[in-house]
Amino acid sequence: MTERTLVLVKPDGVSRGLVGEVISRIERKGLKLVALELRAVDRGLAEQHYAEHDGKPFFESLLEFITSGPVVAAVVEGPRAIAAFRQLAGGTDPVEKATPGTIRGDFALETQFNLVHGSDSADSAAREIKLWFPDL
Ligand code: PPS
Repeated sequence: MTERTLVLVKPDGVSRGLVGEVISRIERKGLKLVALELRAVDRGLAEQHYAEHDGKPFFESLLEFITSGPVVAAVVEGPRAIAAFRQLAGGTDPVEKATPGTIRGDFALETQFNLVHGSDSADSAAREIKLWFPDL
């Protein structure tokens, strides 16, 4: 089943020069890029993107982090793209959950600075793609 998912290379991934690495892994997996943009994230976009986490202890620092520098936003398409990208990313905690061979397992150490975001469900993907790429 062909799906679309929203992928972000977060500010740490952009500033560390890991955009090419992430895009390369997406393409080598067989997934296809259908939109790609380097952009700044303002507070309003960040709040909408992470709305489901409002009230959690890390919410404020997550907003500060995601607005701290440019991100690369992409829409990625392919069979089971949502789960496929989350497999490439690895678990949220780069040490306890992400295994070596995944993006987070290979390149990250701290949960906040975990390099990438991928939609976690079909509903989230639809909502996030509309938010980041309203004209798609
Ligand atoms: S939850 O509570 O299980 O729904 O959270 P989770 O899905 O694991 O994470 C949601 C996003 O919040 C980020 N996160 C954090 N940021 C900073 N500090 C802490 N402690 C923290 N815990 C989770 C996490 O990276 C997720 O971001 P995205 O961009 O969705 O991957």
